[in-house]
Amino acid sequence: MGKQLAVGVIFGGRSSEHEVSLRSAAAILAALAPEKYRAVPIGITRSGIWVAGDEASEMLAPERAGGAEAAAVAPAPPAQALRSIAGALGELEVVIPALHGTYGEDGAIQGLFEMLNLPYVGCGVLASAAGMDKIAMKQLFRQAGLPIVEFRWLSSQDWAAQGERLADRIGRELGFPLFVKPANLGSSVGITRVDDPSGFGPAVELAARYDRRLIIEKGYDVREIEVSVIGNDQPEASPPGEIISGAAFYDYADKYSPDSQSRLVIPAQLSPEQAERIRALAIRAFQAIDGAGLARVDFFLLRQTNEIVVNEINTMPGFTRISMYPKLWEAGGRSLATVLDQLIGLALARHAEKARLARQLAPETACGVGVSS
Ligand SMILES: Nc1ncnc2c1ncn2[C@@H]1O[C@H](COP(=O)(O)OP(=O)(O)O)[C@@H](O)[C@H]1O
Ligand SMILES: [Mg+2]
Repeated sequence: MGKQLAVGVIFGGRSSEHEVSLRSAAAILAALAPEKYRAVPIGITRSGIWVAGDEASEMLAPERAGGAEAAAVAPAPPAQALRSIAGALGELEVVIPALHGTYGEDGAIQGLFEMLNLPYVGCGVLASAAGMDKIAMKQLFRQAGLPIVEFRWLSSQDWAAQGERLADRIGRELGFPLFVKPANLGSSVGITRVDDPSGFGPAVELAARYDRRLIIEKGYDVREIEVSVIGNDQPEASPPGEIISGAAFYDYADKYSPDSQSRLVIPAQLSPEQAERIRALAIRAFQAIDGAGLARVDFFLLRQTNEIVVNEINTMPGFTRISMYPKLWEAGGRSLATVLDQLIGLALARHAEKARLARQLAPETACGVGVSS
């Protein structure tokens, strides 16, 4: 048997999805085949300090799990963040950032891996950043000709300066219900469904606690369909699955609480034509943001018209035992261990491809580019 590949699994982090990340990482660590991989758990505390070894394992202990949205923790000074894990980082051959949300799924940590020249699983900086920002994402989707719901966006500055006028105009243009969301979060944090004009202000105030930019979407009565995508240049889409939400909408508690009433239906009950269309759209959405490795693409099927629209793309979807991403592959006979083999292979392939491109950039070529631009 050849030597084991050293795989860093990074979890926790400064995002509001810290908890979910711990559960994703636990599932990944359990599935990495020990004969092929030497798994190195690396935790990031809520204040942003990276820890390895026993400290990392301790973070994963279930009894330490806190509330869904633990009180905000002040970030640690920059000099402290990476100090204790420089040794552990140096040994890694590839990393899996099992992090969701801000700083993990948004291109921030991907940028760090690029700086370190360390192969990593999943989307690069651009796709991660675009996938995380609901405004940028929808603009790219629209540009690619993908069907999406009608939306407006505003900054908290716009709101402070002309809130009432904006609420009035957007309410008139989109109608009710509508959804107000921070541009840059996930797991339904900060999202409100607004049923009449009186709810608009409080919804904006809530979303503005999480981001400077907000998106407001026309609300529909929807079925929620999700597709797992895997690959780099030739992405594959899984059969679609459906989430039947137990709440008014698929909110944080419904996603992660142990007594959530939501359930997954795999495969989703759709006509073969609908399923094919959704899978094709999933691949186009992945390509629209320049995805790599993996993503989960989420759709709405509008009940009134049967129209299919892309809601969002998640570039580091949940990997917990009850998460849609691994379950969709599992339904097709692909175990989590196989999916991880594939993802690690894709990470190494993309890294090698970039290294080749960098080497090809001989001085004459670089100069030529400069002249022609
Ligand atoms: N425009 C919409 N119409 C109907 N339901 C919506 C709309 N936008 C969001 N929702 C509901 O809110 C949930 C969370 O919204 P989403 O945009 O997926 O944010 P997140 O990134 O937090 O998952 C969705 O799964 C869906 O249940
Ligand atoms: Mg969602």
